[in-house]
Amino acid sequence: MRFLLSFVVLSLGLFVIAEPTVSPYVRREKRVRIPEGWSLKGRHHPDAIVPLRFALTQRNIDAIGEYLMEVSHPESKKYGKHWSAGQILERFTPSGETIEAVRAWLFENGFESNRVRVTPNKGWIEVFATTEEAERLLQTEYNVYSHTTGKEHLACYSYHLPSHIAPHVDFVTPTVHFDSRLTRRSESSDAQPARAVGQPGSGSSPKTTGGFAGSIASDLSTCDQFITLDCLRALYGFYYSPVSASKNSYGIVEYTPQAYIQSDLDMFATNFSQALYGKAPYMVSVDGGYAQAQYQGFDYNGESDLDLQYGMSLVTAAQEVTLYQVGDMVEGASFNNFLDAIDGSYCTFEGGNDPTQDGIYPDPYGGGYEGPEACGTAKPTYVISTSYSYNEADLTPFYTARQCAEYAKLGLMGVTVLYSSGDYGVAGNNDLCLNPNGTQTLGGKVFNPSFPGTCPYITSVGATMVPRGSTVYEPETACEEIIYSGGGFSNYFAMPEYQKKAVDYYLRNYYPDYPSDIWNSTGASRAYPDISANGANYVVAVDGQFILVYGTSCSSPVSGAMFTMINDARLAVGKSPIGFINPTIYSTRFAGLFNDITVGYNPGCGTTGFNATHGWDPVTGLGTPNFPKLLAAWLELP
Ligand SMILES: *[C@@H]1O[C@H](CO)[C@@H](O)[C@H](O)[C@H]1NC(C)=O
Ligand SMILES: *[C@@H]1O[C@H](CO)[C@@H](O)[C@H](O)[C@H]1NC(C)=O
Ligand SMILES: *[C@@H]1O[C@H](CO)[C@@H](O)[C@H](O)[C@H]1NC(C)=O
Ligand SMILES: *[C@@H]1O[C@H](CO)[C@@H](O)[C@H](O)[C@H]1NC(C)=O
Repeated sequence: MRFLLSFVVLSLGLFVIAEPTVSPYVRREKRVRIPEGWSLKGRHHPDAIVPLRFALTQRNIDAIGEYLMEVSHPESKKYGKHWSAGQILERFTPSGETIEAVRAWLFENGFESNRVRVTPNKGWIEVFATTEEAERLLQTEYNVYSHTTGKEHLACYSYHLPSHIAPHVDFVTPTVHFDSRLTRRSESSDAQPARAVGQPGSGSSPKTTGGFAGSIASDLSTCDQFITLDCLRALYGFYYSPVSASKNSYGIVEYTPQAYIQSDLDMFATNFSQALYGKAPYMVSVDGGYAQAQYQGFDYNGESDLDLQYGMSLVTAAQEVTLYQVGDMVEGASFNNFLDAIDGSYCTFEGGNDPTQDGIYPDPYGGGYEGPEACGTAKPTYVISTSYSYNEADLTPFYTARQCAEYAKLGLMGVTVLYSSGDYGVAGNNDLCLNPNGTQTLGGKVFNPSFPGTCPYITSVGATMVPRGSTVYEPETACEEIIYSGGGFSNYFAMPEYQKKAVDYYLRNYYPDYPSDIWNSTGASRAYPDISANGANYVVAVDGQFILVYGTSCSSPVSGAMFTMINDARLAVGKSPIGFINPTIYSTRFAGLFNDITVGYNPGCGTTGFNATHGWDPVTGLGTPNFPKLLAAWLELP
């Protein structure tokens, strides 16, 4: 009897191997919570269409960190030898075997090949399924969630893939993620747009104290109360006029409905930067993005006005600034929409869009952006600054890993990607902290790291300030006005080699005395931020008025302006752009080239957070840029 049973089990096992299409389903991803502001509305209609997208597993992706080090580490023979889009495609495109496996599985489940589309970069397979079909395919249930603003979102709690398909698919959308574009707009046409709803900007926009009394001295004596261009130039020794502007551009990313107002840029120019009067950024629209004027106010214009007034002025009127305006008013957008547009340049390598394959985009619901999917429209600039962020815990590990690998590809191509590190110290956006069960609440006790700050392939920028009574010639401290510099240790990403020495030094000498269950104390996880720059008391023209603005949202575009000008100097002598800077800035060769910030802290989650200390720390990173020293050091590199 026992023999017989095991015989049956054995033959069943053989059967499973011989016929993979009946392989057991394994759970791929699950969500622990519904984000703030959303509530369950009910099951999705069985006949409603779900635009399923399968993120295919990329070849060689595990080695991407090594490839990136080869071209980014200053002691590497291949330093600065960046890859072309074609080389990236060749190295990482999912294998034919992967594409075929997923296609075959879809075919067996009733999706004929004319319904299945492989994107031009071969990274995704798309299929429009009915809810019923999608639920069967992924062994899940689709629900509609509604937001307090009236927006709706389609999602499930968890989903499954057959075990023979799982190795070929990173993840599927729409499923558990709450950042993907909303699949259908609210019925009510006068509902507010998707301001910061489950999208970049949610809690990550800068803060303001509004207009101000007093006056700004022209002699740098009030930089402790009012940060202006002159204060920043003096703080970082940032005096530079571009000489290779035509070969360069500085990229700043904004997500609609965030929009700049030209009259605000002009107002700022009149007072602080006359040569910029009348000058607009070069706008690249991604997926219908435009500078909307329907909604105004700090929440709509603050981020864009800040980023552009300081970004454009610091690189001077001679240098074009590229504004990537992402997403339309109806659907909004996520970081992946922007990355898709950058990835889209790979379409060109493949010989352009194929009209027999493409054209399924725009979304089947209509009413929003009706043009084609961004593809090859967004050529990456050498430096790209983004002042929006999520909490790592908002997203799943598979999703963040996939996106992080995309940043590594940009680095391989010579692009410097900067992200603000967040404004809530060790807490997440909107001061949310983690609970032991993985949910995020205001009363949570567990530190809540920021994403993409914790992606090891971007440069995370924290915030400093000029303390009251100090001058620009004295050391700054960590920012403790209105906002606290985001920083800490990832729960998703391992520590990259390039920062090991610096972070080990910190952990050995200033070990944070917190219970190991409120922060990632393993000493093996990615630590952030990498660098910092002033983030307090910025004088910004918003909606026709000068106001004071705070945030790592200030720090990122200011740092990006400096790196753009270092690229200018390198391009002028025929050298490559600086690309992914982390392996360089943490190297012994660059020791001491940032102004070490040793005072201040970044509280949150009911604690005083971490302290700024000598050397790298999880508040201000390596410190603020010393522009002349960095310029000289980067000019010495090949
Ligand atoms: C801008 O310039 C006007 C005119 O000179 C002046 O009255 C105003 O105080 C200035 N604003 C700031 C913030 O410097
Ligand atoms: C998770 O923990 C928090 C805080 O202890 C609690 O309020 C919440 O109900 C829990 N949620 C789930 C889904 O278990
Ligand atoms: C930060 O410094 C204060 C004052 O020296 C100290 O009491 C605290 O323990 C330090 N915090 C951490 C996390 O090391
Ligand atoms: C801490 O970080 C490591 C590496 O990033 C990760 O493997 C581990 O799961 C994290 N621990 C917790 C409790 O999240």
